[in-house]
Amino acid sequence: MADDEAVARPGAGFDTTVSHSARIWNYWLGGKDNYAVDRQAGDRVAAMLPSIVEQARADRAFLGRAIRYLAGEAGIRQFLDIGTGLPTADNTHEVAQRVAPESRIVYADNDPLVLVHARALLTSTPEGVCDYVEGDLHEPDKILTEAARTLDFDQPVGLMLLGILHHISDTDEAYSIVRRLMGALVPGSFLTINHSTSAVHGEAMEEAVRHWNLVGKPPMTLRTPEQITRFFDGLDLLEPGVVSCSRWRPDPGPEGDQPAEVDEFCGVARKP
Ligand SMILES: C[S@@+](CC[C@H](N)C(=O)[O-])C[C@H]1O[C@@H](n2cnc3c(N)ncnc32)[C@H](O)[C@@H]1O
Repeated sequence: MADDEAVARPGAGFDTTVSHSARIWNYWLGGKDNYAVDRQAGDRVAAMLPSIVEQARADRAFLGRAIRYLAGEAGIRQFLDIGTGLPTADNTHEVAQRVAPESRIVYADNDPLVLVHARALLTSTPEGVCDYVEGDLHEPDKILTEAARTLDFDQPVGLMLLGILHHISDTDEAYSIVRRLMGALVPGSFLTINHSTSAVHGEAMEEAVRHWNLVGKPPMTLRTPEQITRFFDGLDLLEPGVVSCSRWRPDPGPEGDQPAEVDEFCGVARKP
């Protein structure tokens, strides 16, 4: 969708003059579902922080490893993925259903462009189910109500909050949203979070985010690894704890190789 005229449908809720998180992320992941304004903002941020593209890809690779663990070893068969982003390779349902074809997945996002592309996310296996909820993380109860069309909340759910909590500016509100969502899930459910920080690149990351907040939507709030760890309060955090997402159970590389850290910290925890 590189032709901006073709995608700028007036009244469809798209603002093609402001860069949006889902579209710039899609650009960094090598996708085509973005506008000129997103590519310009993406290039500008990447000029300030060249590792940002690597960070977007490391985030996506973490999604794959986390879901393979959840659907495999942990036996999770239901996923609620809030802040879905635009479809790309290896979306949540594809990874989960490759391991367990009967997996049920609900996606939720508040960007109208993600809704337009949702049909690409609704390609479930015949044994499983995929559904899409147009919902805002600021209103977790609405998302839970609509997700209950598809998910059985008497059974464990894997809640995925990847690259979204840093779009909730108020830290106390962000904690309370996560508590509310996890409170609705039965023991044996899992919380998976990936969140931007400046722990690795410091001022370069902070400058890139200041620029993002001038040109893009929704604004971003960086948090420290300690603040990110607090999202898991009351849950059993799995090894290796909260770490850079490139270092969460990485696939084995050439001997002794540790992947470079990126400014996206993550964790996976089980509700006891
Ligand atoms: C950086 S992308 C992450 C995409 C994907 N989860 C990933 O990790 O690759 C952030 C996504 O969160 C969505 N988002 C941001 N704030 C939101 C909110 N308050 N409610 C619902 N979705 C939101 C954006 O529209 C975008 O699709």
